[in-house]
Amino acid sequence: MITPNNEKKQVIFHELTQLQHRDFRFSDGHILGSMCTVPHPIAKEAYMQFLETNLGDPELCSGSKEIESRYLAFISKLLHAPKTSTGQIVSGGTEGNITAMWIAQQLSGKKEIILPTSAHFSFQKIASLMSMKLIEVPVTKEYVMEISQLKKKIRKTTAAVVGLAGSTELGTIDPIPELSDLCSDEHLFFHVDAAFGGFVIPFLKELGYQVPEFDFRLKGVSSISIDSHKMGYAAIPLGTLLVRKKQWLECISVDSPYISSEKQSGLLGTRSGAPVAAGYAVAQYLGLKGYRQMVKSCMDVTGYTEKRIEEIGLSLVLKPTMNVLGVKLNRPGLIVKKLSEKGWRVNKVERLSCIRLVLMPQITKQIIDEFIPVLQKTCEEVGEL
Ligand SMILES: Cc1ncc(COP(=O)(O)O)c(C=O)c1O
Repeated sequence: MITPNNEKKQVIFHELTQLQHRDFRFSDGHILGSMCTVPHPIAKEAYMQFLETNLGDPELCSGSKEIESRYLAFISKLLHAPKTSTGQIVSGGTEGNITAMWIAQQLSGKKEIILPTSAHFSFQKIASLMSMKLIEVPVTKEYVMEISQLKKKIRKTTAAVVGLAGSTELGTIDPIPELSDLCSDEHLFFHVDAAFGGFVIPFLKELGYQVPEFDFRLKGVSSISIDSHKMGYAAIPLGTLLVRKKQWLECISVDSPYISSEKQSGLLGTRSGAPVAAGYAVAQYLGLKGYRQMVKSCMDVTGYTEKRIEEIGLSLVLKPTMNVLGVKLNRPGLIVKKLSEKGWRVNKVERLSCIRLVLMPQITKQIIDEFIPVLQKTCEEVGEL
């Protein structure tokens, strides 16, 4: 047992707290540009309880392993994964995409990934890590992949096609059903990056929004990556990669002779059970009904924000598909800098000449009412309005 040296502890925590004061915090409500959120209170509690677990050595933590299985079952049900499927917990969208492309490369022995220009920058890492080539497909004016262009890019060397179910910059959804049909006909591995949209689209549909299908009900979908630390209200780091066939995960597994499992799949070795327990606790607590309510409230705030932005004379890049808004500006970088000096964090998207606002669960209409006058004044100061 380690006896705490209280004096030393106080000094250390003083230092930690001082440094933490420099952080913007989701709980302050001033982060409007991030896809992460304050974890649900129940996630925080479960996280702390499972701090010492290691899912990389499953027999040491058979209870935590069971939690992981139950969480994977929850995600599988959400995404209508078939019985033949399996899943891998990952740290987030980047690792989910890396793992999917690793599988696609192993299965096909090929090196080219076809993806929209709107794809997340994690694919640049994939190209560099695995010496793969990215073949970009332009997007339409609705900012989704142009299918006719995609058809021209398919070749014998194609390892995978990637579609977005919730683009990073604008939350748009590629025509996943058409992509699925095409990939099924061409026998191509089709990965859906639903890092952000995976916890939004299923509920949008139930709430009456017109959004395309994106999950395993489409026979051409090979894998889906979904992040719980985004709209799943869980704690960082937590995402899941689901693949249609169990043997696909086996093709990236290796012998793990000195730990309790014979084989290990996925990128990581040692990995904490804390985020998984936290994600599972939130899923149990909220249930599908709770997530639907959360998405409804995010969409209400999105609609409200859209209206307030237009009232001050600014316009949106596109009508929002989900709780992500692009606000057109001539000098987004300058606005982001000035807003940051005033205590507000939004993200710039230079290539679309806009700033991105993400209306996460902690953002309320009252917060938007505080933010809009600051945005208006900032735009007036630099001549945007
Ligand atoms: C569509 C998409 N994919 C992947 C990622 C990467 O996720 P992470 O930063 O959790 O690795 C993001 C992050 O915003 C994303 O929006």
